[in-house]
Amino acid sequence: MICLGIESTAHTFGVGIMDDDGNVLANVKDSYTTEKGGIIPTKAADHHAEKCGEVVQKALDAAKLTMKDVDLISYSMSPGIGHTLRIGAFAARVLALKHGKPLIGINHCIAHLSIGEALTGAKDPVLLYASGANTQIIAYEGGKYRIFGETLDIGVGNFLDSVAREMGYGFPGGPKIYELSLKKKRFIELPYSVKGMDVSFGGLLTNIKQKIDSGKFSNEDLAYSTQETVFAMLLEVSERAMAHCDKKELLLGGGVACNIRLQEMAKKMCEDRKAKCFILENQFNVDNGAMIAWQGILEYKAGKRMKINESIIDPYQRTDEVNVDWK
Ligand code: ATP
Ligand code: FE2
Repeated sequence: MICLGIESTAHTFGVGIMDDDGNVLANVKDSYTTEKGGIIPTKAADHHAEKCGEVVQKALDAAKLTMKDVDLISYSMSPGIGHTLRIGAFAARVLALKHGKPLIGINHCIAHLSIGEALTGAKDPVLLYASGANTQIIAYEGGKYRIFGETLDIGVGNFLDSVAREMGYGFPGGPKIYELSLKKKRFIELPYSVKGMDVSFGGLLTNIKQKIDSGKFSNEDLAYSTQETVFAMLLEVSERAMAHCDKKELLLGGGVACNIRLQEMAKKMCEDRKAKCFILENQFNVDNGAMIAWQGILEYKAGKRMKINESIIDPYQRTDEVNVDWK
């Protein structure tokens, strides 16, 4: 079975094509970026509407397939920015109707986890899902993907983007912060904010803004110290989730998982507790269509069906609201 998956939860419009053996036949994307400032939802949606036809065709070409070869269309139904989700759902509906294919809407956060398991061989991991909008520690327990810890305010990626924006850089800011961190001279103490199993970045952001405005600290030192502090927070909570659930695997996912320093720190933590650390190729960490295609295959094979008039979007669906009947 071959599934074409459409991703559009935020700045990326992605199309992936996968078969049911777990082979990635294509994974193409076009992302909305800015020189200065963050994502404007309507502009990102305009970008997706403009690019969707082209990205679908590029994915088919890369896989050397036509729509005739595709058995199923899937799309990210939740969670995300309403404006952009609507474009992906619309494109999926058009393809399904035009070519007479079944259609499935899926949860994006769970797709990050499923593609990680499929491509790394992780069996029962704790997922540190660190992206722009989301920061969650997720594990499978008692028939559902449960959130063991999460951000109480903004996602870690959006936080890094805000720090970069304060320093005068455009979107995405995460890679810029990493680049700056490599030229650091010293560590600057910053507020460390873990509350139970949750983390928060709001207070830290205010503190860093003040430090930037004071002109007393270099961007390089601040970038380095920011990374060390927030990644330690994320891994502290991940480690506790692993201990609590007695799980021996950690999987990184989401755009921030591309960060080499986060990867190093995660590997070290796993080594210390004799656990395995699974890291994906960057193209599967960031938002991508392949993971949507794979999740579509899993759910279709488990019997999920969706009528066109049920193919809604749900910007606020939570990971633990999804019934997991494919495992
Ligand atoms: P989601 O819908 O899952 O929340 P998203 O729309 O935020 O995802 P992703 O592609 O998963 O999209 O992640 C984008 C985020 O990842 C941005 O905030 C970006 O700054 C961050 N990012 C990308 N590369 C790096 C890196 N090397 N280091 C740190 N952050 C990074
Ligand atoms: Fe994502």
